[in-house]
Amino acid sequence: MSKSFYITTPIYYPSGNFHIGHCYTTIIADAIARYKRLKGYDVCFQTGTDEHGQKIEDKAGKAGVSPKEYVDNIVSDAIDLWDSLHISYDKFLRTTDEIHIKTVQKIFTKLYKQGDIYKGEYKGLYCTPCESFWTSTQLVDGKCPDCNREVHEVSEEAYFLKLSKYQDRLVEYIESHPDFIQPESRKNEMINNFIKPGLEDLCVSRTSFRWGIPVPFDENHIVYVWLDALTNYITSLGYMSEDDSEFQKYWPANIQLVGKEIVRFHTIVWPIILMALDLELPKQVFGHGWLVINGEKISKSLGNYKDPREYIKKYGVDAVRYYVLREVSFGNDGTFSEEALITRTNADLANNLGNLVNRTLSMANKYFDGKICNKNIVEEYDTEFISMICNLSSIVDERVDSLHINDAMESIFELLRRANKYIDETSPWILAKDEARRDRLESVLYNLLEAIRVSATLLEAFMPDTSKEMFRQLQIEDKSIGYQEKLTYQVGTPTPIFERIEKD
Ligand code: MSP
Repeated sequence: MSKSFYITTPIYYPSGNFHIGHCYTTIIADAIARYKRLKGYDVCFQTGTDEHGQKIEDKAGKAGVSPKEYVDNIVSDAIDLWDSLHISYDKFLRTTDEIHIKTVQKIFTKLYKQGDIYKGEYKGLYCTPCESFWTSTQLVDGKCPDCNREVHEVSEEAYFLKLSKYQDRLVEYIESHPDFIQPESRKNEMINNFIKPGLEDLCVSRTSFRWGIPVPFDENHIVYVWLDALTNYITSLGYMSEDDSEFQKYWPANIQLVGKEIVRFHTIVWPIILMALDLELPKQVFGHGWLVINGEKISKSLGNYKDPREYIKKYGVDAVRYYVLREVSFGNDGTFSEEALITRTNADLANNLGNLVNRTLSMANKYFDGKICNKNIVEEYDTEFISMICNLSSIVDERVDSLHINDAMESIFELLRRANKYIDETSPWILAKDEARRDRLESVLYNLLEAIRVSATLLEAFMPDTSKEMFRQLQIEDKSIGYQEKLTYQVGTPTPIFERIEKD
């Protein structure tokens, strides 16, 4: 039986259009999910939408529609966006799904009955756009530290989750599981800035708005957003439902990817909910940086973004996927710029990858009518080149496992660059002039085709369309990873995979 692998993205707020920053997490999660499938894992890749809260209620009111109608529209648009990026999610959880609502109510009741949730009074400073409560010391110049907008004081009867009870257990867990919070810097920030100064109990219900999951035994209250949102990762798997076989199979998650600003909810509140439910914690929560434009986070509220489908239409889906995966060192912030996207597409995709396929297939057609076998004439340059082809998969494995996704991509492109250099070193056009060197010429082309085939196999995870197109032109179906000695190629006529983009 194949090993299971569960990877999640955060569930997104459908409160406006999605931007390339949202695509960033999702494309990375998709690449990891595809890669694990390629390696034979039984993968569950989940994303979804976080649909409750005052902000949605307000926006729907302004638009003159019900909150559900309001989110339905945005969610179908989000699904269209994920389709256009070829996101291969297995589950799309909406917090308005019946299964989620029922399970959140069961969880709330269970935690209340066992004393982990209690009723009290909430007084606090609330930022409506961010749906976050802040203490006065967390404010920056009296405003919300995340979005710099006004906060207002709220006081109401509310239910609370006893975070304080679990504080010591949480610190002990984090310290004894070095992989749980990654990268390392985020772990230190959580322990030193948030946990050790003392955890305050968390408000988990509200009475001031209605768009949420009712607390089953006290219907004046609705479940406040983080308890509703975080539990999505298990409600989707059927936790506490009649059929919890997927929960048994996939939980605990292998990787939960989250943006850096929500690491604290995922590494403090979420583990405490799980501890209270007596469940295992995810193996890893990885807090990545943001995509920024001109130094600022791309965001709906800052308004500095385009619909990602515009980039897809202009440059093609794989140019966008490649750029996002390759440009940013995962974990840090990275700049998104259309100009850099064009430069990368031209240099890496049109020149390096595109030219290699084009040159190799053209020569195979010209000298051998496209039919190439391995004649095994091994000469200078071959050993190093072939061992690079053989080692590629284990290098990519290691880099994907340590979430160095940009480096994983880079290692594939390094092989493609090496293959272009191998053409220059072996000069097939000179070999072609000498009848006695025909077997050597065929061996050289065979090695090149193997480099292309192995790269195309691994690229399925990162650039699925490109991989498919490479296989279509190679006219071969063998997707074994690693150099094969005895394949027979009958390649097609090359057509450009990536056109050079002229800058406006
Ligand atoms: N609904 C919550 C998450 C609940 S998970 C139980 C939320 N939603 S969000 O739509 O605001 O953000 C979703 C994810 O998108 C977050 O991880 C956030 O960091 C990420 N990004 C939003 N803008 C981003 C960039 N500009 N760059 C990279 N990621 C960004 O938070």
